[in-house]
Amino acid sequence: MPQSPPPTYTAAVAPGALPLLGHGHRLLRGSAEYLSSLHAHGDLVAVRLGPTTAQVPCHPDLLNQVLADHRLFDKGGVFYDRARDVAGNGLVTCPYRDHRRQRRLVQPAFRRSQLQRYSQAVQAEIASATDDWRPGRVIDAFPTFYGLALRTLGRTLYSTTIDAKLARDVEQAFDTVLNGLFRQMFLPAPVRRLPLPGNLRYRRSLACLHDATRQLIAAHRDAAEAAGAEPDLLAALLAARDEDGARLSDTEVHDQVITLLAAGTETVAATLTWALWRLSRHSAAAEQVRAELAAALPDGRAPGWADLPRLGVVDRVVTETLRLHPPGRLFTRVTTAPTALAGRTFPAGTTLVVSPAAVSRHPAAYVAPALFDPDRWRPERLTPAARQAFLAFGNGARKCAGDLFARTECVLALATLLSRHRLVPEPDADLRPVPLATVLRPRRLHLRVAAP
Ligand code: HEM
Repeated sequence: MPQSPPPTYTAAVAPGALPLLGHGHRLLRGSAEYLSSLHAHGDLVAVRLGPTTAQVPCHPDLLNQVLADHRLFDKGGVFYDRARDVAGNGLVTCPYRDHRRQRRLVQPAFRRSQLQRYSQAVQAEIASATDDWRPGRVIDAFPTFYGLALRTLGRTLYSTTIDAKLARDVEQAFDTVLNGLFRQMFLPAPVRRLPLPGNLRYRRSLACLHDATRQLIAAHRDAAEAAGAEPDLLAALLAARDEDGARLSDTEVHDQVITLLAAGTETVAATLTWALWRLSRHSAAAEQVRAELAAALPDGRAPGWADLPRLGVVDRVVTETLRLHPPGRLFTRVTTAPTALAGRTFPAGTTLVVSPAAVSRHPAAYVAPALFDPDRWRPERLTPAARQAFLAFGNGARKCAGDLFARTECVLALATLLSRHRLVPEPDADLRPVPLATVLRPRRLHLRVAAP
């Protein structure tokens, strides 16, 4: 049988670089549409992030090739160098050499049996966040869901409710730190050290975050000694042992706690915010959701873990939202050896930008890629190409450890909210992304609570 020739991929340089900033202004201020449009120039597109030239894989095959080899394409580069200021050497930021051990220690906290238990905390937090929602009330979507995601992680990580002041401190510190992270990426080290107001604010918030994390771990240790620890996520981290029987060090536990708080809050809040916006615009999908909820929860009770198999429509809404609005705007990798990609060779130390949005609207993977169509994820319509281009949670060994946790939280939250209320966007919605935020989220979305 004649062999088909291996596919050839094109490489290009993205147009429109500005002096000094390069393409940073478009990548970090722009929406998912900009990243999704890059494939029109080539399968592998060079961009400039300040002084650094980086390669963006814009074809699903190439992005998967990079994600599959986490030794050659290791975590590093402008994004992860700055992210390490925040999360140290935690699971998201650690390099290849530390990853296997860390993942093995953290993974048990995300087993299905644990998730089933956490889903009760999710349910409880959703109930307390929405109990006083009455028709006519207007909620600010992203901060509301951010609070929900943070308190949910608090409950699952620490089994105790985080006191209101600490929760506010953590929320504000993360806001400054995460939104400062992209800005810091462009500043050369000597400028980052200057006592400029932005640098000082960034460092103050970082110190506050580390302090809050120390308090949370200490409080958990005290509670565990006094009353016996709940089998929660932090208890699992504290008890975790590797093959040699070694525990995580205090610094490692600290880094993991910050890592999970950073990874599991804005991402979930953005997904819920975009999903509700999309459903408000797509009445057919909203109608399908209402019909599913009426059938799955006829008695009006809140949905739980056991209901998840009956919430396929809501689950597909979450997937389609993540495809069109992958929260993680971009991540970076650095090659650890000379490598070939898209028929070109690159020296060790080459930076790559890994962005789910760069492939999530690729025309080779999706029919009418810009359209919000949750039904494209129905099993009978799902194609291998579509599955391969869905990289909102990453792929390979560095794939999101909290993917099922996040999905469970989003599906339960949406199902609870939409079985009880209709949420109608106020006219002041501003869907442009918050510039320089690490997570793609709209600048403003107020939702008016109405009867279902
Ligand atoms: C919708 C919500 C979420 C999205 C879209 C998301 C997305 C991602 C992505 C794209 C990565 C890979 C980054 C890279 O390859 O450079 C990642 C990694 C990770 N995420 Fe998530 N995430 C979400 C929620 C969560 C939650 C709730 C948690 C935990 C509570 C979490 C924990 C992690 C961890 C620990 C990693 C690092 C895994 C490793 O390197 O082994 N994420 N996430």
